[in-house]
Amino acid sequence: MFNKLRLGKNRNNTSTLRNKIDDIKKSPIPEHVAIIMDGNGRWAKKRALPRIAGHHEGMKVVRKTTKLASELGIKTLTLYAFSTENWKRPKNEVEYIMSLPDEFLGTFLPDLIKENVQVKMMGYKNQLPVHTLRAIEKAIEDTKNNDGLVLNFALNYGSRAEILDGVKQVLNDSKSGKLKETDLDEKVFSSYLMTADFTDPDLLIRTSGEIRLSNFMLWQLAYSEFWFTDVLWPDFNEEHLLEAIETFQKRQRRFGGI
Ligand code: FPP
Repeated sequence: MFNKLRLGKNRNNTSTLRNKIDDIKKSPIPEHVAIIMDGNGRWAKKRALPRIAGHHEGMKVVRKTTKLASELGIKTLTLYAFSTENWKRPKNEVEYIMSLPDEFLGTFLPDLIKENVQVKMMGYKNQLPVHTLRAIEKAIEDTKNNDGLVLNFALNYGSRAEILDGVKQVLNDSKSGKLKETDLDEKVFSSYLMTADFTDPDLLIRTSGEIRLSNFMLWQLAYSEFWFTDVLWPDFNEEHLLEAIETFQKRQRRFGGI
């Protein structure tokens, strides 16, 4: 557990949040939380800052969110950091976002190792800049024996491409006789996706007021609970995460049953 979790700006806020955390931990915690971290650009624009300032602030929120997720006992936290479509952004912005894993892991990796967090990544590695991939792969290697929170970065990730690639592999395995058509069911197909090692997200959070999935985990989110907020990602704080989880805990999940 993160023993240096600092919550709130003053002692009163800290104890209120601490009580809230303790309360929330009395009910079932979502095993896998996935977040579409949106609104960095608008956050910066509101302050007449360059868009990259919003991404930098957003990176700091990743730190706070990881700490709280670990403290709450969430097993997997998947963060949508860069989509296969985000390459369309201006070159300087893409380059900046691609430098964030270096900065984040450069400063935070020792804490992640200490706190038993396991770093993973899903997405197309081939197109990533060498320095980005190197930072991520080092973090994956250095944390591979940890068995606490899995911090899964979706980086150069796109769900349609992932599903198509899964279908192609299924066809290959079927042609080679490795997979029989009668053996293909939802569970087996899931094992062909980048999330093969994870359970499906129980809770999806999207910030910034956009109510869409933007090519994120389309297969995996089939039965997840969704929580949308107008809060821009750089403004997302511990209270917001707790509110999302509290709402989740009040929902009735029926998975198609009654
Ligand atoms: C979407 O907001 C955000 C992104 C495409 C980048 C998200 C990246 C981070 C939060 C930092 C990730 C940190 C690490 C360690 C990888 P937007 O730019 O689309 O915002 P807008 O809709 O307001 O323009």
